[in-house]
Amino acid sequence: MKNKEIRVLFVCLGNICRSPAAEGAFLKLVKKENLESYFDIDSCGTSQYHIGSLPDPRTRQVAKQNGVYLTHKARQLRDSDLESFDFILAMDRKNLDDILSRIPTETDIAKVMLFAPFADYPKLEEAEVPDPYYGSFKDFEFVQDLVERSSIGFLKYLKENNKLDSISP
Ligand code: 4NP
Repeated sequence: MKNKEIRVLFVCLGNICRSPAAEGAFLKLVKKENLESYFDIDSCGTSQYHIGSLPDPRTRQVAKQNGVYLTHKARQLRDSDLESFDFILAMDRKNLDDILSRIPTETDIAKVMLFAPFADYPKLEEAEVPDPYYGSFKDFEFVQDLVERSSIGFLKYLKENNKLDSISP
Protein backbone atom coordinates (compact mmCIF):
# COMPACT_ATOMS: atom_id res chain seq x y z
CA MET A 1 0.00 0.00 0.00
CA LYS A 2 1.22 3.45 -0.82
CA ASN A 3 1.64 5.41 2.39
CA LYS A 4 3.53 8.46 1.24
CA GLU A 5 4.96 10.10 -1.83
CA ILE A 6 7.90 12.42 -1.98
CA ARG A 7 6.50 15.71 -3.20
CA VAL A 8 8.95 17.71 -5.33
CA LEU A 9 8.24 21.22 -6.61
CA PHE A 10 10.41 22.99 -9.19
CA VAL A 11 10.19 26.79 -9.13
CA CYS A 12 11.32 29.53 -11.53
CA LEU A 13 9.98 32.99 -12.41
CA GLY A 14 7.51 32.40 -15.25
CA ASN A 15 6.95 28.61 -15.03
CA ILE A 16 7.23 28.40 -18.84
CA CYS A 17 10.95 27.72 -19.37
CA ARG A 18 13.17 26.33 -16.61
CA SER A 19 10.86 24.76 -14.03
CA PRO A 20 8.65 22.86 -16.51
CA ALA A 21 11.87 21.64 -18.18
CA ALA A 22 13.11 20.47 -14.78
CA GLU A 23 9.78 18.84 -13.95
CA GLY A 24 9.83 16.97 -17.27
CA ALA A 25 13.47 15.90 -16.95
CA PHE A 26 13.03 14.62 -13.40
CA LEU A 27 9.82 12.78 -14.30
CA LYS A 28 11.57 11.15 -17.28
CA LEU A 29 14.36 9.97 -14.98
CA VAL A 30 12.11 8.52 -12.26
CA LYS A 31 10.02 6.75 -14.92
CA LYS A 32 13.19 5.26 -16.41
CA GLU A 33 14.11 3.95 -12.97
CA ASN A 34 10.58 2.66 -12.28
CA LEU A 35 10.26 5.03 -9.35
CA GLU A 36 7.30 7.05 -10.59
CA SER A 37 4.99 5.84 -7.83
CA TYR A 38 7.35 7.25 -5.20
CA PHE A 39 6.94 10.79 -6.44
CA ASP A 40 4.51 13.63 -6.85
CA ILE A 41 6.25 16.15 -9.14
CA ASP A 42 5.05 19.62 -10.04
CA SER A 43 6.36 23.06 -11.05
CA CYS A 44 5.28 26.66 -10.63
CA GLY A 45 6.48 30.24 -10.98
CA THR A 46 6.94 33.04 -8.50
CA SER A 47 5.28 35.47 -10.93
CA GLN A 48 1.81 35.53 -12.42
CA TYR A 49 3.05 36.54 -15.90
CA HIS A 50 2.13 33.36 -17.76
CA ILE A 51 -0.53 31.65 -15.65
CA GLY A 52 -2.36 29.01 -17.71
CA SER A 53 0.20 28.95 -20.53
CA LEU A 54 1.97 25.92 -21.93
CA PRO A 55 5.77 26.02 -21.71
CA ASP A 56 7.57 28.32 -24.15
CA PRO A 57 7.74 26.73 -27.66
CA ARG A 58 11.54 26.67 -27.45
CA THR A 59 11.40 24.80 -24.12
CA ARG A 60 8.94 22.29 -25.61
CA GLN A 61 11.07 21.84 -28.73
CA VAL A 62 14.25 21.13 -26.80
CA ALA A 63 12.43 18.84 -24.36
CA LYS A 64 10.89 16.94 -27.27
CA GLN A 65 14.33 16.42 -28.77
CA ASN A 66 15.17 14.74 -25.46
CA GLY A 67 12.08 12.55 -25.38
CA VAL A 68 10.05 14.71 -23.01
CA TYR A 69 6.56 15.98 -23.90
CA LEU A 70 5.63 18.97 -21.78
CA THR A 71 1.92 19.61 -21.16
CA HIS A 72 2.18 21.52 -17.88
CA LYS A 73 0.14 24.74 -17.64
CA ALA A 74 1.88 27.53 -15.77
CA ARG A 75 0.70 28.32 -12.28
CA GLN A 76 1.88 30.65 -9.55
CA LEU A 77 3.49 29.56 -6.27
CA ARG A 78 0.90 29.27 -3.48
CA ASP A 79 1.50 29.58 0.25
CA SER A 80 0.08 26.07 0.67
CA ASP A 81 2.89 24.72 -1.58
CA LEU A 82 5.41 25.77 1.03
CA GLU A 83 3.85 23.38 3.52
CA SER A 84 2.73 20.54 1.30
CA PHE A 85 5.91 19.90 -0.72
CA ASP A 86 8.87 18.01 0.75
CA PHE A 87 11.47 19.52 -1.60
CA ILE A 88 11.20 22.94 -3.23
CA LEU A 89 13.91 23.37 -5.87
CA ALA A 90 14.60 26.90 -7.08
CA MET A 91 16.17 27.58 -10.47
CA ASP A 92 18.07 30.72 -9.47
CA ARG A 93 19.01 32.69 -6.38
CA LYS A 94 16.24 35.26 -6.86
CA ASN A 95 13.66 32.46 -6.98
CA LEU A 96 15.27 30.99 -3.86
CA ASP A 97 15.10 34.30 -1.97
CA ASP A 98 11.49 34.87 -3.05
CA ILE A 99 10.49 31.43 -1.77
CA LEU A 100 12.43 31.79 1.49
CA SER A 101 10.83 35.18 2.17
CA ARG A 102 7.46 33.40 2.24
CA ILE A 103 8.45 30.30 4.20
CA PRO A 104 6.34 30.27 7.38
CA THR A 105 8.45 28.13 9.73
CA GLU A 106 12.14 27.59 10.46
CA THR A 107 11.73 23.85 9.98
CA ASP A 108 10.58 24.31 6.38
CA ILE A 109 13.70 26.29 5.36
CA ALA A 110 15.79 23.14 4.85
CA LYS A 111 13.53 21.83 2.11
CA VAL A 112 14.14 24.88 -0.10
CA MET A 113 17.25 24.47 -2.23
CA LEU A 114 18.87 25.52 -5.49
CA PHE A 115 18.50 22.78 -8.11
CA ALA A 116 21.59 23.31 -10.30
CA PRO A 117 24.19 22.40 -7.65
CA PHE A 118 22.91 18.81 -7.87
CA ALA A 119 24.41 18.65 -11.38
CA ASP A 120 27.77 18.19 -9.67
CA TYR A 121 26.49 16.08 -6.76
CA PRO A 122 28.10 15.18 -4.38
CA LYS A 123 30.14 18.37 -4.79
CA LEU A 124 27.13 20.68 -4.40
CA GLU A 125 28.73 23.90 -5.59
CA GLU A 126 26.71 27.08 -5.86
CA ALA A 127 25.06 27.18 -9.27
CA GLU A 128 21.93 28.45 -10.96
CA VAL A 129 19.82 27.47 -13.96
CA PRO A 130 20.14 30.68 -16.03
CA ASP A 131 17.00 32.34 -17.38
CA PRO A 132 16.91 31.61 -21.15
CA TYR A 133 13.77 33.64 -21.94
CA TYR A 134 15.51 36.48 -23.76
CA GLY A 135 18.31 34.23 -24.99
CA SER A 136 19.01 32.02 -27.99
CA PHE A 137 17.99 28.45 -28.77
CA LYS A 138 21.41 27.40 -27.48
CA ASP A 139 20.49 28.82 -24.06
CA PHE A 140 17.43 26.57 -24.00
CA GLU A 141 19.60 23.58 -24.90
CA PHE A 142 21.96 24.52 -22.08
CA VAL A 143 19.01 24.63 -19.64
CA GLN A 144 17.77 21.22 -20.80
CA ASP A 145 21.19 19.66 -20.34
CA LEU A 146 21.61 21.25 -16.92
CA VAL A 147 18.20 20.15 -15.59
CA GLU A 148 18.82 16.61 -16.87
CA ARG A 149 22.17 16.45 -15.05
CA SER A 150 20.70 18.07 -11.94
CA SER A 151 17.88 15.51 -11.94
CA ILE A 152 20.40 12.67 -11.90
CA GLY A 153 22.27 14.26 -9.00
CA PHE A 154 19.10 15.03 -7.05
CA LEU A 155 17.81 11.46 -7.34
CA LYS A 156 21.23 10.19 -6.25
CA TYR A 157 21.07 12.55 -3.26
CA LEU A 158 17.63 11.20 -2.30
CA LYS A 159 18.82 7.60 -2.53
CA GLU A 160 22.07 8.19 -0.64
CA ASN A 161 20.24 10.01 2.12
CA ASN A 162 17.68 7.20 2.40
CA LYS A 163 14.77 9.42 1.43
CA LEU A 164 13.09 6.63 -0.55
CA ASP A 165 13.42 4.02 2.21
CA SER A 166 10.32 4.83 4.25
CA ILE A 167 8.04 4.83 1.24
CA SER A 168 6.06 1.92 -0.14
CA PRO A 169 5.76 2.31 -3.90
P1 4NP B 1 11.26 31.01 -16.61
O1 4NP B 1 11.64 32.07 -17.75
O2 4NP B 1 11.28 31.74 -15.29
O3 4NP B 1 12.35 30.00 -16.71
O4 4NP B 1 9.89 30.46 -16.95
C1 4NP B 1 10.98 33.29 -17.91
C2 4NP B 1 9.77 33.34 -18.55
C3 4NP B 1 9.13 34.54 -18.74
C4 4NP B 1 9.72 35.71 -18.28
C5 4NP B 1 10.94 35.66 -17.63
C6 4NP B 1 11.57 34.44 -17.44
N1 4NP B 1 9.08 36.95 -18.51
O5 4NP B 1 9.68 37.99 -18.14
O6 4NP B 1 7.95 37.00 -19.02
